[in-house]
Amino acid sequence: CFPETNLNSKRNMATLSVSRAPLGGFSFENCKRNAVLEADSAKLGSSVPAARKTGTTICGIVFKDGIVLGADTRATEGMIVADKNCSKIHYISPNIYCCGAGTAADTEMTTQIISSNLELHGLSTGRLPRVATANRMLKQMLFRYQGYIGAALVLGGVDCMGPHLYSIYPHGSTDKLPYVTMGSGSLAAMAVFEDRYKPDMELEEAKRLVRDAIAGGIFNDLGSGSNIDLCVITKGNVDYIRPHDEANKKGVRTGDYKYKKGTTGVLTKVITPLNLDTVGEHVQTMDTS
Ligand SMILES: *[C@@H]1O[C@H](CO)[C@@H](O)[C@H](O)[C@H]1NC(C)=O
Repeated sequence: CFPETNLNSKRNMATLSVSRAPLGGFSFENCKRNAVLEADSAKLGSSVPAARKTGTTICGIVFKDGIVLGADTRATEGMIVADKNCSKIHYISPNIYCCGAGTAADTEMTTQIISSNLELHGLSTGRLPRVATANRMLKQMLFRYQGYIGAALVLGGVDCMGPHLYSIYPHGSTDKLPYVTMGSGSLAAMAVFEDRYKPDMELEEAKRLVRDAIAGGIFNDLGSGSNIDLCVITKGNVDYIRPHDEANKKGVRTGDYKYKKGTTGVLTKVITPLNLDTVGEHVQTMDTS
C-alpha cells in the first residue's frame, strides 16, 4: 500500500490511484474468491444472480450522402414490457450518434461517458470528432470491462473522412461495414438488409430499408416492439426522427363491455352482520419518490 504521510489526505488519495507502478495484463485475483462464494451460496440454497435476457432491434446503413440509424422502442424487464416508447438512439457528438442494445443503463452511461470525453477532445482540438475516435474510445472501455458492461452498439456518423458505420460488441470487438444490425432482432433485420441493400442508395430508399429492417425485428422478435425511430446523419446535418413510424398502432375500443343491471339474476340473498370493533387506525404516507 501507499504510505499516508501527506497531511492533505484528499490529495494523497488522488496520487494513490495514479502513482502506482503499472502492473500490466489482466488481474484474476478474485476468481478463486468468487468460486468459493458461488459454492457457498449453492450450499445455502440461494444462487448468484443470473444475467437478464435482453431484447432490441437496432441497425444502420451507409447510403449515398451519409448514415441512417434505426431502432425499435421497446424496453423489457424479463417477460415484461417496461417501456413501450423508449429512446435507443443516443447522442455522441453533433456529427455522431449511437444505437444501444443490451442493458439499458449500460448503453446509456457508456454513450454518455464517451460523448463527454469526445466533447473535451473536440474542445481541445477545435475540430469535430471522427467516428473512428468514438469507436476506439468505446471499444477500449468495453474491452477493459471484459463484457461485464452489457452494451452492444451501432455507431454511425459523418466526419472529414466521410460516412462511417461500426458495430461494437460488449467485449470490445468491432466491425466496420456498410450495413450492420445488433440485438435479439438483428437476424430479422439482417435478413432484410441482405435481401435489399445496395451501395449508394438515395435518402428515401435508405430510410425505407432501415424502417423495414426494424419492422422485421418488431414483428418477428418478441424482445422488440412498438415504434421505429430513425436518425439520418449527413455532412453538416442531423435529422433525428422520433417516431418515424408507429408500426403497432393501438386499436380503438369498438364494443361496449358494460353489463346492464339484472343481466345476472340473484337467486338467494343472505346478510350476515359482523360485530367488529375498530382497535386502532393510523395513516401512512406513501413513498412516491
Ligand atoms: C414517443 O415519444 C415521443 C417523444 O419522445 C413522442 O413524440 C411520441 O408521440 C411518443 N409515441 C407514442 C406512441 O407515445
